[in-house]
Parts: sequence; C-alpha cells; structure tokens
Amino acid sequence: MKSQNANGSKVVRVGLLGLGNVGAGVAEILSTHGEMIEARAGVPIRIVKALVRNKRRKRQGAAGDVTLTTKASDIVGASDIDVVVELMGGIEPALSYVTDALAAGQTVVTANKAIVAAHGKTIFQAARKNKRDVHFEAAVAGGIPIIRTLREALASDRVTELTGILNGTTNYIVEAMASGQSYESALAVAQELGYAEADPTLDVNGADAADKLAILIGLAFGASVTRNKFGCVGITELTGEMMMDAAELGFAIKLLARARRVVTGGVETIQAGVFPYLVPLGHALSAVPDAQNAIYVRSDSLGTTLYQGPGAGGLPTGSAVVADLIEAARNVAAGTRGRSTVQPTRAGPKLAKSGDTVCPWYLRLTVAEKPGVLAAITTLLADESISLATVSQMEPSGDDNEVGIVMTTHPTSTGAMERALKKMHRLKVVRGEVQVLRVYAE
Ligand code: HSE
Repeated sequence: MKSQNANGSKVVRVGLLGLGNVGAGVAEILSTHGEMIEARAGVPIRIVKALVRNKRRKRQGAAGDVTLTTKASDIVGASDIDVVVELMGGIEPALSYVTDALAAGQTVVTANKAIVAAHGKTIFQAARKNKRDVHFEAAVAGGIPIIRTLREALASDRVTELTGILNGTTNYIVEAMASGQSYESALAVAQELGYAEADPTLDVNGADAADKLAILIGLAFGASVTRNKFGCVGITELTGEMMMDAAELGFAIKLLARARRVVTGGVETIQAGVFPYLVPLGHALSAVPDAQNAIYVRSDSLGTTLYQGPGAGGLPTGSAVVADLIEAARNVAAGTRGRSTVQPTRAGPKLAKSGDTVCPWYLRLTVAEKPGVLAAITTLLADESISLATVSQMEPSGDDNEVGIVMTTHPTSTGAMERALKKMHRLKVVRGEVQVLRVYAE
C-alpha cells in the first residue's frame, strides 16, 4: 500500500466519500498544515479524489482543488487509494462502501456515528478479517478527542460514569429556549448554522446522541450495545414553563447522554439513557454553551475529567478526521496495522433494565385548588416509597380553581416513578399531563 511520488518519497493516497462541510474541512487542514502533518505522519498525505453527487457544484477553498468523481468504484477498492475516508452519513450505501473498502485491503476512516453504533460488529469483524484498521474519532463529539481518550489515555483506569452533551443542535436549542426563544425559531437557527443532521428529527428526538452514547459505552464499559437497548427521550416536549421552573430551582435543562456503572448485590450493570435533565447550576455540564459538546468522565484513579469543545462543524470535525488520517498514514507507510482497538464484548456488563435506573426527579402538576390535594399526591408518592426533596406551589395563572405544583424528589427508580405517575393521572384533582424530568445527581 505504498506509492512513490515524483520525488521518490512515499505518499499515502486518500479518497474521500463525500465532500460536504467535513470533507471541505479535511481538505483545508491538509492544505494549510501539509508540512506539519507530513512531519508528524512521517509521510505526505494526499487527497487523490472525492466522491460527490454533483461534479459541477462550485467548491470553495482547498476543496476546489480536489479531483471529483461520481463513481464510488473510483475510490472503494481502487488500486490508487490507500485510505478511504467515509463522510457520507446514513447507513447505506456508507456501510457497504466501508466493508467493501476493508475487503479490498484499504484502511478506513469514518465520521459516521450511525454505522459505527448500529453496525460496529460487522465493521470491526471485516477489519479483523482483512487485517485492516478502522478509525472513527470524528464519529462522536466532532473535534473532541474522546475516542482516543477512552481507548488509550484511560486504558489504565476503570470508568464509572460517563455523562455527555453529545448533540450540539439540541444544546443550542435548549439554551435558546432558556432565554425565551421558541423551540421552532431556535431549531431554524441551528439548521442555518449547519449543526443539525440532514434530518433534524435525529437531533431533536435524541437518536443522534444515543448512537454516540452507544459507541462510548462500548469503549468506556466494554459493553456491546445499540441505541434501541436503552431509554431515549429528546427535547420536543420541553416547555418554556419547565425552563423557568429549572432556573428558579437553580438548574439548567440539558439533554444528557448518560451511562453509569452500578454494582448491586455483586452484579455489575450499566444504567444508561438519553434524557433531558435538570443539571445543578454549579455543575460544569450546566454551563456548556451554544452548540458545544462535553463529556464528563469519572474513573477510579483519575477522578473526574471534562472534555469540552465543538461537537460539529467542518474544521473541528475535520481535525478529528485528519488526526485519524495521520495515524492511518503512519501504519500504511510502515506496512503495519495499528494497535488493536478496544472492542466491546458480549461478556461485558449488561445494561440495567430501564425501570431499575435511579435518579431524582422534577414534577410539575396542575391541580385543583382545594384542601387535601397535596396530601393525596404525597400519599400516593409515599406508597411508592418516593421521598420528596422540595415542594412549591406556584402563583395561579388564569384559572383561579387551579394551581401549579412543582416538586423534586430524592433518588427514585424509573419503575417507581412510572407507577406513581400512572396513579397520579387517575386522580380527579390532577388536571392534564404531569410534566416530568430527571434531575442530574452524581
Ligand atoms: N447533528 C449533530 C449535532 C452533528 O448537532 O451535534 C454532529 O454529529
């Protein structure tokens, strides 16, 4: 997998599948920092061609110098390409291109969280079988080097908690909503700024964050999971009222992707899920701004560490892709494979049942304004052994016969909370849906 350029030195030849935002960022970085990158890789890295849908579309900057093709076979399995960089997103044809490239003996770099999260097993099997490497630093949290951190820097330590803000679009939206903007206008801005997925449903329903969490659980806890195996709720049901309650109680609302190691009766499980949380204002994750991502990790020896930065965008994500390319190029030039990637195994810890996951809760109820109502509700909570941390009655808004009650609880299992909510909804004095959110606690 080596070629000679005109000067007789080795060149690692790269084919990009996709030349959008991230592809353009990769081209820009390789062009601006070519010399430095060559010194670090020990070999020049050249983008030989890029697969695009439309060859006629004008491209800015270094992307404008890349040779374009509309035929995947010019890159996947092509004898003049050493490393295939998959930047298409989505499952197919990206997955087939990645496995075909590996089968043809090419190294793969991908930024595609969906295929790594849902088909990691297939991809890594193909890599092993063909004795090739797959790099995917850019698949989670854009430019933040969290994959390498978990795989290498923290290889010596046991992770007990990993809590991330893994989707920039939703972080942008909840922050904007907290300052009074509507959900719709905040989403429109996030789309304009280029943070959102092609289908923003995957951002707002939590699926994008859940795919990324599934990948991180594999690396941090050694458990092989896909996103449909744990709970996932996005931000579409958040209201301005919840934002105001949170601020009044001393919290910020954030969409958190969370996994914790829990040992009960000697059995280790991972409590995992993606949910909107009330995060105490003093906690680092409460202050992660705009479309940034952050991952808060707790491990036995190191304690807590925070990795924060841009989780999307051409140059930040491009920098993670180029870092992978440098690692790939070193190995391709040396005719060797990388060190073996930590792979989740089936023997790893199991996910806890969703009903067993435990956290404090926030509840907002609209109830009839009459004696005994609060007593009925607290009795019902006590029946499920749910202990209240705070209770406040809000000013009546409009209807004099109704009043808002905001409560927070001590740590309670999801199962107990779900049972209590079911009973609460049967009470005549409770009007409409009870609004519920999890509260972050360490
Ligand atoms: N749509 C994603 C986000 C982009 O908003 O974070 C990076 O995966």
